[in-house]
Amino acid sequence: MQVPSRSPAEVSAIHFRCIGCGERTGSAGQDFRCRDCGDLLEITYPQLRDEIPNPENLKSVWLERKLSQSPADLSGVWRFRELLPKLAEGAQPITLREGNTPVYHLARCAQMLRMPGLFAKHQGMNPTGSFKDTGMTVAATFARIAGFQWVACASTGNTSASMAAYAARGDLRSLVLVPEGKISWSKLSQALDYGALTCQVRTDFDGCLRLLQELVRKAPVYQLNSINPFRLEGQKTLAIELMEQLDWQPPDHIIVPGGNLGNSSAIGKALLEMREMGLISRLPKLSVIQAEGANALVRTVREAEGKELVSVRAETRATAIRIGNPASWKKAVGVLNATGGTCEQVSEGEIARAKAEIGAEGIGCEPASAVTLAGLKKLLKQQFIQASESVVLVLTGNLLKDPDFTMEFHRGELLKDEQPVELKSLRRQPVVLDATLDSILRTLEQAKKQDSNRMQS
Ligand code: F0G
Repeated sequence: MQVPSRSPAEVSAIHFRCIGCGERTGSAGQDFRCRDCGDLLEITYPQLRDEIPNPENLKSVWLERKLSQSPADLSGVWRFRELLPKLAEGAQPITLREGNTPVYHLARCAQMLRMPGLFAKHQGMNPTGSFKDTGMTVAATFARIAGFQWVACASTGNTSASMAAYAARGDLRSLVLVPEGKISWSKLSQALDYGALTCQVRTDFDGCLRLLQELVRKAPVYQLNSINPFRLEGQKTLAIELMEQLDWQPPDHIIVPGGNLGNSSAIGKALLEMREMGLISRLPKLSVIQAEGANALVRTVREAEGKELVSVRAETRATAIRIGNPASWKKAVGVLNATGGTCEQVSEGEIARAKAEIGAEGIGCEPASAVTLAGLKKLLKQQFIQASESVVLVLTGNLLKDPDFTMEFHRGELLKDEQPVELKSLRRQPVVLDATLDSILRTLEQAKKQDSNRMQS
């Protein structure tokens, strides 16, 4: 394997800032950590306000690009390129038209919670079915420009699916480390189909990430986990696109699931940059929800006042966020504090219920995304959120990402002993019938009866 002569940081002439000591540097090692204090680096744009004196003009430029057919303008990430690391003249991004995801009104959930302003930004509508694509298009592009031949990641499934796709599109080879038996087949099958060298490692996600850190010191592979700050720059565009869709009127709250905590960090960074530039006039409160069994951020905030990481042994059926040692915890604590948001945890039963409720909207999402609705219910009870406020849930992954969870839920196999009554009304068993019109008509009648019983109760 060939070692590239320049790093992606050098080819993009980017500035980094250490989130711990504030030290600025023009280069970053493969661990993306400060050489002085060891904290994570983030990308900064010191000239941003000078380069973009008029935010209203910029909004118009971004809108006009929607009429263009150029690959960069068709991307819901590169359309906002003024807030991304700069591509050299003539350089082409690796793009699958990522971003461009819808905002839906969650009408049924809104009615159930008696809060009219409830919306979902569905990142599961990205090309590989998760929010990872928005970061991957940026990080993979700069890896290719720098001359890397191999990219690699540790993953609970979505990062690997996304990385494999972008690597394939960009003629790069990809190496995937996933915890054996702990990711959904549908995510694993994506990585295989897109041609990744896929290793199911006998450990958990945190173990895979540790191995990757050692690997990148020994081999010229470029790591595409979310500690890679280029990923977070791409993921920032979720928030920019959302504000554009809301006509630059920020909602009161944004709620996002937390795993390795890259996404919450990215969204928070975007909100702060947009306010600094005058694109928005106030900040939404950004809150992070975790599964009770993978609650490192919640414990870090509650038990250590956000000052040091409290790691946990992670266990949850929401496998995408089965992470006990989140790499970007300090960035996430920073954005919670800066926006006035909070963090909360939800049980397996609450996740399953919320997932079925989002499914019943005709929208659906994977289990990890459903923590947002489950968390919202708790934050409403605690009166951290008022029913009169507007809320956007970030749905991070597509319903089709974890069909086993969905099937087990509807067959009544998942959480058999917990909250049977509450969950029962949401379960939809498949019905096996003889091939006669009569049996179908009878089943239809029964369903009608059940519906009217439900309406009365
Ligand atoms: N939701 C989904 C569907 C995810 O796949 C992930 C993370 C998260 C939420 C949490 O985001 O890590 O930025 O806090 N999945 C990673 C992966 C870890 O490998 O696919 P985060």
